[in-house]
Amino acid sequence: MSNENREESLKTGTEKTAQPQGRTPEQAEHAPSQLQTPEEAAEALKDCHFDTKLIHFGAEIDPTTGASSVPIYQASTFHHFDIYDPPQYDYSRSGSPTRQALEDYISLLEGGAGGYAFASGMAAISAALMIFSAGDHLIVTEDVYGGTYRLLTTILSRMNIETTFVDMTDLEQVKAALRPNTKGVFMETPSNPTLKITDLGAVTAWAKEHDLLTLVDNTFMTPYYQRPIEQGVDIILHSATKFLGGHSDVLAGLAVARTPELAVQLKKLQNGLGTVLGPQDSWLLIRGMKTLGARMERSEASARKLAKWLSERDDIASVYYPGLSDHPGREIHEKQSAGYGAVVSFDVGSEERAKRLLNKVKLPLVAVSLGAVESILSYPPMMSHAAMPREVRLERGIGDGLLRFSVGLENIDDLIADLEQALID
Ligand SMILES: Cc1ncc(COP(=O)(O)O)c(C=O)c1O
Repeated sequence: MSNENREESLKTGTEKTAQPQGRTPEQAEHAPSQLQTPEEAAEALKDCHFDTKLIHFGAEIDPTTGASSVPIYQASTFHHFDIYDPPQYDYSRSGSPTRQALEDYISLLEGGAGGYAFASGMAAISAALMIFSAGDHLIVTEDVYGGTYRLLTTILSRMNIETTFVDMTDLEQVKAALRPNTKGVFMETPSNPTLKITDLGAVTAWAKEHDLLTLVDNTFMTPYYQRPIEQGVDIILHSATKFLGGHSDVLAGLAVARTPELAVQLKKLQNGLGTVLGPQDSWLLIRGMKTLGARMERSEASARKLAKWLSERDDIASVYYPGLSDHPGREIHEKQSAGYGAVVSFDVGSEERAKRLLNKVKLPLVAVSLGAVESILSYPPMMSHAAMPREVRLERGIGDGLLRFSVGLENIDDLIADLEQALID
């Protein structure tokens, strides 16, 4: 399908991608969901549980050969067999079959009208924010991911896109930030790294009254636990580098549009900016996503245990985890999410103590990132939030002693024993 046709069909909702081939009509009649078009597969799977969709998403079997995974189409361009009838894919920046399988997969999981895969989470976020124009104003959660903060304050600001950062746990602050030129609201919940909770439904309902576009960074929860499109959010963003990929071996970003119109806009931006995900990484991401449910369940059970253990210690200044009974916004979180996730942040009281602990732990990776099979311990002041001036960081509750623990699949008792020895001063 040519790009123009694809855009037209996105508008009308009749897009047909990854056409099944290599089987007779009789075989097609008995075909399982994976041998149907994405739309047919979505319809066939609509009553299935999310776990089933993670495995049977419509492209898990190659329709040509029956291979048990989507092929890696390592090609930059595609032959025109008939110049009057251009091929479905013509050039890999505009569309690639492997990337398409991933894009249909994330769209199905988030319940959107179209998904788009990018070279990183920041590439996805940058592309989505390019929907806005010079002179527009955005309202953004104040403890947004550090890279998004940098993009807004050092790059988009130069293009005359203004941002007001607010504490999004307080709807009144969001409302107060409205200006005549406000065009969008960017949310992240739970936020990084202090896991503050934004009421997605309340902010989105207010934003719609003012014709504002709503965007959510859903990296921490993933669609396994939280599907903001169900709350009416317009664009969902992911650093798929994290839980979706899940193995610390792929850098990727995903964007999902709620409506076909927004899908057309995102598609144009993806093609125009050219920051697409390659076929190898698209395949790797699909492979990682198949085990998302199993990984999230296991890591979350361990994260709950870790948060409880930390909160019972008197040498820990504070613990941030939505599953703790006293976590601010817990009730709102429970309304909009099916789980608490696998990230626990805690403050050990000082920079010296945090650094000592980082040098003493033996099991977790001490690294920038999260959401992998191995536990990852980060130090936000020097890592994810290094771009944020110290006074701004402190104002936003990210203290010098704050550590962020992304719980992996190790035995939790081993992780706790390791932390215990590292906490001895
Ligand atoms: C919440 C969140 N959003 C976006 C990003 C950026 O993603 P990437 O590193 O894949 O560009 C990150 C990275 O840590 C993140 O944690």
